[in-house]
Parts: sequence; structure tokens; C-alpha cells
Amino acid sequence: PGQFRATLTAQPRSVALLANPTGPATEMWLYNEDTVAPLIDVFEGDRIEITFVNHLPQPSTIHWHGLPVPSDQDGNPDAMVEPGGTRIYTFTLPLGSSGTYWYHPHPHRLSSEQVFRGLAGPIIVRAKNDPLATYPERHLFISDLKLLADGVIPPNTMMDWMNGREGQYVLLNGQHQPRIQLNGNERWRIWNACNARYVRLSLNSHTFSQVGTDGGLLTHAVHDLKDIVLAPAERAELIVSAPPQPTSFLLTAAPYDRKKMTMGHGSPSDDPTIVLAQIKTSNAQPLHLPDRLRDIAPLDKPTATKKIVFSEKMNMLAMGMNHDGFPSGMEFLLNGRSFAMGRIDQESRKDEVELWEIVNHSDMDHPFHIHGAQFQIVEREHKGQITPEPILAWKDTANVRPDETVRLKIVQTLTGKRMYHCHILEHEDLGMMGIVNVV
Ligand code: C2O
Ligand code: CU
Ligand code: CU
Repeated sequence: PGQFRATLTAQPRSVALLANPTGPATEMWLYNEDTVAPLIDVFEGDRIEITFVNHLPQPSTIHWHGLPVPSDQDGNPDAMVEPGGTRIYTFTLPLGSSGTYWYHPHPHRLSSEQVFRGLAGPIIVRAKNDPLATYPERHLFISDLKLLADGVIPPNTMMDWMNGREGQYVLLNGQHQPRIQLNGNERWRIWNACNARYVRLSLNSHTFSQVGTDGGLLTHAVHDLKDIVLAPAERAELIVSAPPQPTSFLLTAAPYDRKKMTMGHGSPSDDPTIVLAQIKTSNAQPLHLPDRLRDIAPLDKPTATKKIVFSEKMNMLAMGMNHDGFPSGMEFLLNGRSFAMGRIDQESRKDEVELWEIVNHSDMDHPFHIHGAQFQIVEREHKGQITPEPILAWKDTANVRPDETVRLKIVQTLTGKRMYHCHILEHEDLGMMGIVNVV
């Protein structure tokens, strides 16, 4: 087994911006020097050792989103690294953990700000026997940035807190509308690392195949897709092919109606289509994907059930901003409660398959995420109508629409406290989070 060692230093950096390179410099918060944090590119079975140095003016942690790491190494909000502090995270990646993951801060009430200022990076865990290893890879790490004209990244407004913050610049690998040369058949790994933006990706009318989700490859490819929606924190692996004749087209994010609250300021369907990249193609090659990408065994019959209910409480009369930068008059709740650090909300048994029912009793979409394990979505229910999940896949984030129930199977293989929460980071910071203790 290999060893991977790195140091990640979270620090303020002044960058001539990406979105507007000739404009005023912007102070971002970055891991190391670059506007895209270092890629952690490792194999199943590897031992990882990351030294985290916190040069931010706030406490922070690093969370390894989607990976089955021991709970005391997972950057939980009760294990803060203070400003000026250092800690080492170590863990070994089990066999079967290949997939596309990421890392980001997880300090309670501060995750939203730390991520929107630039702290997030990609992780790839490779299988030793990867059937798609010969395809050239392209990595599209999507983030968004809200900038004022003077280059300043402003704090969250009341509407940012309510709906989750969306920046007007959508960046690919830290760049605004890069040019991409698509050569033959490529394997694309895509991360939605935005705080709250849902991304409906398409390549004009050019089709592509999906071969993977959050937790790695599917059992077989899904072909002829025209678009794919990634909720915040979701990832996908695609195979994208150059068409027979060289051509060019745009990679765009078309609007997705996630039922944002508008308070009378226009309708969400006014959201524009955003250009992410300009693509030129060359060198078409026939595509022969293997019939079977890998085996995924459906999880056994569950022996316990959990029910998690998303809800919101809005008090229009009390709505406003407090001096500490947090809003009043809005509550984001799980099972009627706001997050409390010392409280255990659920108990699970290690190695037991559980059915988690995630119910959305609010008016907008919320992406549900749980730490420590990948799950399998079983079915979705909307107003009494049940739709079985069409594909078997490993996921750690699942979007839940208003009035929808998502049923998923999960088994935690490590003991300790795990967080589960809405991955709209403003909602997480406002308390839409709970703790499951695995014993
Ligand atoms: Cu990516 Cu608890 O989060
Ligand atoms: Cu996570
Ligand atoms: Cu939410």
C-alpha cells in the first residue's frame, strides 16, 4: 500500500481575479497558494497523512467529504483547529472506496463563509483494477464566487442565508469560462463545490454517458444523456466524446428551479443559463465502453429505520440581520430542532443496514448528506406516488424536493459521531444538521 503525505495551509491570499483579471485584487481564503486547492490523488488501500495548518482568522477543520475515515479524523465541528494551530489527519482508505470526493472546512456556523471564500479541494480515490483507467481524465471542479465591483467578497445577506448563497461567477477549476480542447473520448470527473448553486450541466445538444456517481463507478454506463443536475456537493463521472466532425460548443449550466423564496423580487425561473466553458473538439474515436463497469451488491434488508424531516420556520416580522452577521426570523430544522453540538440525535449500530427516510416538509429543495458511509437510494415518494430509484449507485448526497420522501439504505462500518445535514452550507450553519452516534 502507498503513502500519501501533504500539508494543507489555509490562508488569506490576494488574487488578481480569475473572473476579472484586470480588476482589483480579491482576498480569498485558500489551501496553499492556488485558487484550486491541491488534488489528493490516491489509491484504495493507501495511508493518508495530511498536516493542516490554520492561518485563517477563525477556527477551522478539514472534513473528507464522502470518505469512510474514523470519526475523530473527519474534521467534525467539535474538533476545531484554532487560528495559528496545526493538526495531523491520518486515515487508511479501505478497499472498495474508489470514487470522487472532496475536502472542505466544517466548523459550526463558519463553514459557509470559509467555503465561499475559496476553501475546497478535490480528492480522487482510484481502484487498482479500474476498467476506465485508459481514458484520459479531465477534472471540472465547479465553484461560484460572489464579488462586488471593487473585488471584495461580501458577507452573506439575509437572502443568501435564506436560499443559500449563489455567486454571479461560476468557476471551473478556479477559472472563469476556460477553453477546453476535447480530444477523442474523455472521462470527466465533475464536482459541484458550490455553497448552494444547483448545476444543470449540458453540452448544447451534444449527448454524453454517465459512468459514476459520488462513490465511484456505476454497474454500467447510462448513455445518451442531454443534461445532468448536480445538487451542491454531488459528483459525477461522465464519458464525453468528440463528435465525428471537429466542432465547438458550450458547456452550460441551465436554470434549475429549486423553489427559492423570492420575497417578491422576481421569480427563480428568471435565472439565466450560465456559460461554464467553451469547448473545441477534435480526433473523434469510436467508443467501446465495457458492458460491466463493476459490481455493486444491493445492501441487505434493513433492520432499523430512521426518519429525518427537513422543515423551515419563517417569521417575516422578525426577519433581519444581526450584528454578528447571522439572520434572525428564520430557522432551518431537522426533526423540529436546530443543531446542538453536545446532543446526540440518532443512534445507529455499526455494520447494521438501516433504512433512512428523508422527508422534506419545507418549501424548497434541500440536499441531504451524511458522513462516514456511502448509501444506496431505494425509492422516492412524492404525494403518494412511489418511484423506485432507476439505477444502483453509491451516493453520499441526495437532493430532496419539497413534499418528497427519499428512502435510502446505509450501513456505517466505523463507530463514533457522524454529522448529517443539508449541504446548502448556509442552512447547515443555521442549524439544519444533526449527529448520529454509531456504536
Ligand atoms: Cu461536505 Cu458535512 O459535508
Ligand atoms: Cu461530508
Ligand atoms: Cu437546505
